Amino acid sequence: MDPIRNPYAPGAGTQPPEMAGRQALLEQARIAIHRLKAGRSAKSFIAVGLRGVGKTVLLNRVEHLAQQAGYRICKIEAQEQRGLPDLLVPPLREALLALDQMGAMAEAARKGLRILASFMRTVKVSYGGADIALGIDPEPGAADSGDLDHDLGALFHAVGEAARTRAVPVAILIDEVQYLSERHLGALILAMHRASQSGLPLLLAATGLPQVVGLTGQAKSYAERLFDFPLVDALSAADSDAALQIPAQSEGARWDDAALAEVRALTRGYPYFLQEWGYHAWNVAAGPLIRAADVTDATKIAVARLDESFFRVRYDRLTPRERDYLRAMAELGLGPHRSGDIADTLGIRVQTAGPLRNGLIRKGMIYSPAHGDTAFTVPLFDQFLRRVIPSWPPRVH
Ligand SMILES: Nc1ncnc2c1ncn2[C@@H]1O[C@H](COP(=O)(O)OP(=O)(O)O)[C@@H](O)[C@H]1O
Ligand SMILES: [Mg+2]
Repeated sequence: MDPIRNPYAPGAGTQPPEMAGRQALLEQARIAIHRLKAGRSAKSFIAVGLRGVGKTVLLNRVEHLAQQAGYRICKIEAQEQRGLPDLLVPPLREALLALDQMGAMAEAARKGLRILASFMRTVKVSYGGADIALGIDPEPGAADSGDLDHDLGALFHAVGEAARTRAVPVAILIDEVQYLSERHLGALILAMHRASQSGLPLLLAATGLPQVVGLTGQAKSYAERLFDFPLVDALSAADSDAALQIPAQSEGARWDDAALAEVRALTRGYPYFLQEWGYHAWNVAAGPLIRAADVTDATKIAVARLDESFFRVRYDRLTPRERDYLRAMAELGLGPHRSGDIADTLGIRVQTAGPLRNGLIRKGMIYSPAHGDTAFTVPLFDQFLRRVIPSWPPRVH
């Protein structure tokens, strides 16, 4: 069918033509947003799920809901190479400047800016970060102790006070939260804890890979009380079908049942793959009906596309030893697998495999669904590895 009218949208963070199966999660978010705005208690949340399951597009919807409710948005994407303080300063600065410029009686926002100036100076000295000119004198003795837990708490408190004075709540949105170091994530949680105890209108909505839930210490006990950790999962059969059928119908086309069943089986309901298959099936089908035979043709193209993009970009970031570790996992099947079984397959001791496994968790390739278990964060990655490294054990490197 006409590729120009193709409604499907494979791609990282690309808005899907039909956002299937997320109504309950969005309704929960909408309630939290409006409760906090009305001065009631509301739980922040960290939504977790595998790669390509739709976390970024979900966070974009939450952003939209918060915007509609009159929130000021501070949005960041966590990165392996940059720390939380460094990432947070620019959007918090913008928020405080906007709150400051809303009219007279700006003392709380001014104070927020002075505390931000202190924080920035401390960030630069203590935690490493960019130098941004604020043009405002720092507030001595506030957010400048060099202890991140304390300083971030003071900064969030100041932002929350400014937000309350202006009756404009602030939403802090963080994507890829698994890239924050445990220390920075801990400080973030403690800062949110302080703000919520003072009844300040600050909401945190974050998304990340499942390893985020494995916090420890004081941060863990606060996080469990403060946050929900909703799971963003693959779509049910009915939702998978809706994700494909509704966009087709709005363009005057239709999937037959056999074609839908085939895509469900191949994609296991993972949204990224549904978009990829939908996209190629549309292009190869004569239309207006999309049939199982079209899916068969589309599969070759979809798999090739995934192999050279979605899977490939992650594979390219791995060392040869990391590839071996993952290939050994793939050899064992879908998973999760016991760490001992993976080490056995690799022919090394489980202690020797430990650092390798930790490195792969930090890179966001695998996670531990339960103690001693290991699973892929990228759905269908096992099949990909068997395609790129067909034989095991590998003969040569
Ligand atoms: N609920 C959904 N229904 C249909 N397609 C979706 C849904 N959520 C995400 N997608 C599609 O899946 C792909 C990956 O979404 P993204 O938000 O980038 O995933 P993640 O951030 O979890 O890796 C995009 O092409 C998007 O359009
Ligand atoms: Mg994402």
